[in-house]
Amino acid sequence: SAAEKGGYASFMLKEIAEQPKAVADTLLGRIDASGSLSLDELRIPDAELREVDKVVIVACGTAFHAGLIAKYAIEHWTRIPCEVELASEFRYRDPILAARTLVVAVSQSGETMDTLMALRHAREQGSKVLAICNTNGSTIPRESDAVLYTHAGPEVAVASTKAFLTQLVACYLVALYLGQVRGTKWGDEIHAVIRELAQIGGQVEQVLQTMEPVRALARSLADRDTVLFLGRHVGYPVALEGALKLKELAYMHAEGFAAGELKHGPIALIEEGVPVVVVVPSPRGRSVLHDKIVSNIQEVRARGARTIVIAEEGDEAVVPYADHLIRIPATPVLLQPLMATVPLQVFACELATARGNEVDQPRNLAKSVTVE
Ligand code: AGP
Repeated sequence: SAAEKGGYASFMLKEIAEQPKAVADTLLGRIDASGSLSLDELRIPDAELREVDKVVIVACGTAFHAGLIAKYAIEHWTRIPCEVELASEFRYRDPILAARTLVVAVSQSGETMDTLMALRHAREQGSKVLAICNTNGSTIPRESDAVLYTHAGPEVAVASTKAFLTQLVACYLVALYLGQVRGTKWGDEIHAVIRELAQIGGQVEQVLQTMEPVRALARSLADRDTVLFLGRHVGYPVALEGALKLKELAYMHAEGFAAGELKHGPIALIEEGVPVVVVVPSPRGRSVLHDKIVSNIQEVRARGARTIVIAEEGDEAVVPYADHLIRIPATPVLLQPLMATVPLQVFACELATARGNEVDQPRNLAKSVTVE
């Protein structure tokens, strides 16, 4: 009903708007007064977490994209090798699992059959399973050794938005916590990032306040057939997520690529007028990557692409090559997906609406996929 949508035209719009609170709620009570993480609820003793020698993340769809981003964070802050795999592929390939492997199952609903089967398989092999889940008491957390709940609140729209942002927060918490208990050389950085994470809801709100030009742009592209998305580093899974949203909601051909792969094939798709969304990594920290993506933007633009550039405030290098520029607040490099995903959600929702599609209930899709 209209009342349930709280004045929004769709659950999806409501849930996009709820993201600052969802993110803040997921952090609540997990950062102590000294700025350290306390995750006693994990129920896996710190001593055991210190012994972990491999992390394997299993998930489907949008939750898989959260997992892809988690890999960058886990490997950077903990130096533990991390693999991410689609749950539907994982258990059919005889994966290498042992007692010191920590398997992380990410699921909004907690009922996704592929993810459930993957975690059962992992536990049968003697691995510990940590669920990151949004639904209290659902099957996946019940069958796991431990659970870290996301506190996004109920997500009704089929397309995942606020659950994704909170999955990212939970993944960062796991990565930072593993780093904290293992005492890596990144200790100072971990502390600084925890401090920034505590503020992040406000920055998500800032992004939401500046979305009108994104909506106008989306409407202007309603009659297109294809939109391409490029990213590097953590921006690559963001590009995949932007493309998935557009497929699900607008029923358009949308693909995400690692920008470094352009020359290995995808650049052949570029022709006059094709919209290409580029997620630009933070210019701080990894400036080499930043320079590379600026040349990627130039390359596609020289071949006629209409470039839609998502870049941090203060990043001036992209300005000459951006047909449309979407600004996001500067954040630590690894946290950028919390900002960069939001315009892509708004973009897909508006474009789908302009095409006359029902955004809360896209055709052929179910909110949770409880069959294999
Ligand atoms: C997201 O927009 C999708 N509807 C879908 O990919 C979803 O993320 C996937 O089915 C996993 O669901 P889960 O998080 O409930 O396990």
